Amino acid sequence: MKVTVSRKAHFNAAHRLFRKDWTFEKNDEIFGKCNNPNFHGHNYELIVSVTGEIDKETGYVIDMKILKDIIKSEVEDAFDHKNLNVEVPEFRDLNPTAENIAVVIFNKMKSKLDSDLSLEITLYETPRNFVTYSG
Ligand code: NI
Repeated sequence: MKVTVSRKAHFNAAHRLFRKDWTFEKNDEIFGKCNNPNFHGHNYELIVSVTGEIDKETGYVIDMKILKDIIKSEVEDAFDHKNLNVEVPEFRDLNPTAENIAVVIFNKMKSKLDSDLSLEITLYETPRNFVTYSG
């Protein structure tokens, strides 16, 4: 019997969507206002879902305190109030779209979880736009 537990988190971060190997005009055509060279910010909302068997002794799929601590170390401490393009190494050569941010969060968190647990990341860039990645 597998059960999914979820925890919400959020972080504020700045980014710019562009490719270094494209001209400004090409970036402007594809990314529009998101190509602003002075960056812009989002209030990102995150839902982290972990699926696994209920532990017979504890009754937990995962101790929420452990999940909270992994979100803090891998996401909040790494991204909150940061410029993703400039300050977060994963995005030095990776466009920080919501899609790519979700994949980066997934990879960072997956490596910290027991291998028998499944992970799904849902990332809201705005209240209406969100992406989901589960590996
Ligand atoms: Ni944006």
